[in-house]
Amino acid sequence: MKLVVRNDDRAVAAMTARLIADLVKARPDCVLGLATGRTMERVYGELVGISAAEGLDFSRCRTFNLDEYIGLPPGSVHSYRTYMNEHLFSRIDIPIGNTMLPDGSAADLVAEAARYEDAIRRAGGIDLQLVGIGETGHIGFNEPLSPFTSRTRDITLAPGTRRQNAALFDGDIDAVPQRALTMGVGTILEARRIVLVATGSAKASILAQAVEGPVTSMISATALHFHQDTLAIVDEDVARHL
Ligand code: GLP
Repeated sequence: MKLVVRNDDRAVAAMTARLIADLVKARPDCVLGLATGRTMERVYGELVGISAAEGLDFSRCRTFNLDEYIGLPPGSVHSYRTYMNEHLFSRIDIPIGNTMLPDGSAADLVAEAARYEDAIRRAGGIDLQLVGIGETGHIGFNEPLSPFTSRTRDITLAPGTRRQNAALFDGDIDAVPQRALTMGVGTILEARRIVLVATGSAKASILAQAVEGPVTSMISATALHFHQDTLAIVDEDVARHL
């Protein structure tokens, strides 16, 4: 794993967005793996800015998101589909049909997970996968004890994750779904390049464990040490325990 420490969250977002923009310019038909959460809002803000300034053409890109909640009503403002539409897809030039998320409202979640894996495979795999890190050390929604070989599947969210993500549900932890569909750790590790983005002092301890601690399925992010091309882009606040 390579690690770059930038001054602040803005510089982290700018560098991450620049990497994505450069890939889209070099390979207009690239396959992007995308993530959600507050950290990524800034990344997408920067990417939208670069896209407008430099006329980026996303029309041939395809995107696959890491995860989606299970059990939200269709069109929920809290779904990751809505998040992605608002923060990125409606603000760049990408056909919405090229943007994929697992369908958390599918009647048969096992079939949906298999369909999602198959769609990634048929797209030729993911060129660049963005990942954040949760306070449980999860990537995607791969909570502690997710096998490193795991594939897209239905997972029960850890209480700490629901608490952390309650901020995006107006602070109401009871409104945060109990379950999600997530790419597995094994699915994520198949991306050709992985970019881990982390900012803010609240995650300093888990980032240090992910980067410097022993590899363990208790912290899914440590699986990234098995990947040949992972770049962590972090700010000084989150790097303080390294
Ligand atoms: C959710 C997502 C994760 C993301 C995490 C971090 O749990 N499923 O993929 O890494 O949020 O969120 P934030 O950036 O808001 O701290």
